[in-house]
Amino acid sequence: MDRVSRALAGKEILVTGATGFLGQPLLEKILWSAPDVERIHVLIRPKRPFGGEVQTPAERLRRELFQSSVFDRLRYRYGDDFERFLEQKLVAVGGDISQDRLGIDPALREELHHRIDLIINSAAVVSFDAPLDDALSLNTRGAGRVARTRKSSGQQGMGGMTFSQHQLTGAAS
Ligand SMILES: NC(=O)c1ccc[n+]([C@@H]2O[C@H](COP(=O)([O-])OP(=O)(O)OC[C@H]3O[C@@H](n4cnc5c(N)ncnc54)[C@H](OP(=O)(O)O)[C@@H]3O)[C@@H](O)[C@H]2O)c1
Repeated sequence: MDRVSRALAGKEILVTGATGFLGQPLLEKILWSAPDVERIHVLIRPKRPFGGEVQTPAERLRRELFQSSVFDRLRYRYGDDFERFLEQKLVAVGGDISQDRLGIDPALREELHHRIDLIINSAAVVSFDAPLDDALSLNTRGAGRVARTRKSSGQQGMGGMTFSQHQLTGAAS
């Protein structure tokens, strides 16, 4: 067991932006390298696909992540137990980082405060021509909201550490 998998064993993590280009392989990498992670709470906003019905965070978790080809080597590793493994490890949390307190239901937020050891923030708007207000609301204030979520919870609370994707990719490069 390497240092990362040892550090994450038994831990609970909150990940934002997990449906994204970087968020999906990030989840896969954690589940592959640290299968003893206790749970990953995946913050997802409800979304209405063009011309379709609103999809709940739990529905999006199943459609966009459980069925994603990014998990192919996990599918191969776990075979028939693949879905059960994902169900044990991944849980959808409805939220939106552009909203106060990340838009998480207050009771759930309180519960998460006592459980989350680490937050990884990968939610962002990455389009170069996004309206400035949207980019600021998400990439600057959103990241701030995620960081404050950690601070407001004190020693026992949400996230001993918070990382944003640009810190992780910067550190890796
Ligand atoms: N792509 C790269 O090559 C690269 C390289 C280095 C660093 N990064 C950094 O990594 C981060 C993510 O980039 P990406 O390429 O993965 O972007 P992406 O594919 O556009 O994914 C963005 C993610 O953020 C979520 N999101 C957007 N607005 C949200 C909101 N208001 N509340 C909650 N979630 C929201 C999206 O969810 P929905 O599915 O609901 O839209 C999606 O999961 C950015 O900070 C970027 O700068 C990216």
